[in-house]
Amino acid sequence: MEDKNMSKKLPKGFLWGGATADFQYEGGFNESGRGLLSHDYETDGSKEHPRHHTMKMPDGSIIEPKSSFILADSVPTEAEPVFLDDEYYPSHNAVDFYHHYKEDIKLMAGMGFNIFRFSVCWSRIFPTGEEAEPNAAGLKFYDDVINEMAKYNMEPLITICHDEMPMNLALKYNGWTSRKVIDAYVKYAKTLFEHFGNRCKYWLTFNEINAVRGFGPTGVRNSEGQDRYQADHNMFVASAKAVKLGHKLIPGSQFGTMFAMSGAYPATCKPEDMFHYLQEKRENWYFIDIMGRGYYPEYAAELLQRHNVKELHMEPEDAQILKEGQLDYIAFSYYRSNTTKAGDDWFNVGGDSNPYLKETPWGWPVDPLGLRYTMNEVYDRIQKPIFIVENGMGAVDKADENDYVEDDYRIDYLKDHLSAMADAINIDHVPCLGYTMWAPIDLVSLSTGEMKKRYGFVYVDMDDKGHGTLKRTPKKSYNWMKHIIETNGSALDE
Ligand code: BG6
Repeated sequence: MEDKNMSKKLPKGFLWGGATADFQYEGGFNESGRGLLSHDYETDGSKEHPRHHTMKMPDGSIIEPKSSFILADSVPTEAEPVFLDDEYYPSHNAVDFYHHYKEDIKLMAGMGFNIFRFSVCWSRIFPTGEEAEPNAAGLKFYDDVINEMAKYNMEPLITICHDEMPMNLALKYNGWTSRKVIDAYVKYAKTLFEHFGNRCKYWLTFNEINAVRGFGPTGVRNSEGQDRYQADHNMFVASAKAVKLGHKLIPGSQFGTMFAMSGAYPATCKPEDMFHYLQEKRENWYFIDIMGRGYYPEYAAELLQRHNVKELHMEPEDAQILKEGQLDYIAFSYYRSNTTKAGDDWFNVGGDSNPYLKETPWGWPVDPLGLRYTMNEVYDRIQKPIFIVENGMGAVDKADENDYVEDDYRIDYLKDHLSAMADAINIDHVPCLGYTMWAPIDLVSLSTGEMKKRYGFVYVDMDDKGHGTLKRTPKKSYNWMKHIIETNGSALDE
């Protein structure tokens, strides 16, 4: 499939960078007046022991979690969030970008990044989500970050909301099920546009809006059925309102939303498996179609019925809002591919293992060609530029006595994926704005809360319980990536 005669050199102006999320990277939990965030209650975990939330009830008892990411249905709005002494909550300090931002930005600049994707912590700007005025100290932190980046000609790609919300909004309104959260979000987005718009052109309204995490993107207690799809509708409206406002306030601004994309294959060529695959794909297209084209597709009725959704509450003006607030580009994360067959759960992420692919230690199939396939598929459908805003490999790194890591496996993974991306751009003519690798500096894993699932070009001395010096040390892949960027991809041909 790879065309050996076609150069991997990328078009001039291609954006090269890395991506992070505040609650996995930033820390600074008690600093600059930051309020409580939905992720602050998530413990650490592992593949075998899922992360969970802890909540104290008004009577003093502690609510036991239902599963990772999903807040127990029984949590009342008046629950009193409390932290337990014998639990570790990784978001509180993460890997402390809050105090290391100068050093980290310098390291990223050293690789030649011209863009850095980070998320603003909503509760650092509006601690409960409902204040009339933003928190000036919170804004100042991101001012400092963006100004530091400017010294190296690195532009920001800001994720307005990365799977999170102020805890107050999650508890009080059952997250995005309430339209009150739309207003809170638009006020927050407007604040960011007014404050950072003169220095930020690229924005993402949400991270992985299509992912299934009850307490993640939607903040709802019940992650399936009526509540989930109502929450999604409210997020579509919020995103569209933000896009329209952003275009008005920031001339030349470009808006995307980030979708979790995996390559997907029918497990066999049995017609029933193929039809199931079509329906499974629509679980994702639903989000991309509505936000990328500005209207609900015909198949939405069947999909919603399949998920026991009776009727979505929509205001009369919503259709017009969605039309006017379409995305400018389609951003996605790509880590792996999945298989699917008749009878599988709709959200059976992963499916059976694919005999043609190797897997990472966390069981994620490694499929570079799937990236080229996905880029083509998304562009064919929506016909808007794409932006790969997350891709990378979680691995167990063995550091030597100087904290140096020889991560040839990461280099292999990235080389294969970047080559597939270059082929999609150069051979298939898919317009692609850039590539931000997850995550340039080691940080806390979202799914497991571990540190040992490392992605970075830079090793951070910290273990799964937050112990360590936090010293940053470039890995072997650091200089490799630097060379790829300085040759704008040509070195992939070597
Ligand atoms: C994406 C998220 O789902 O994948 C990131 O946007 C996350 O927040 C990344 O960290 C990798 O997943 P994990 O679970 O390995 O951290």
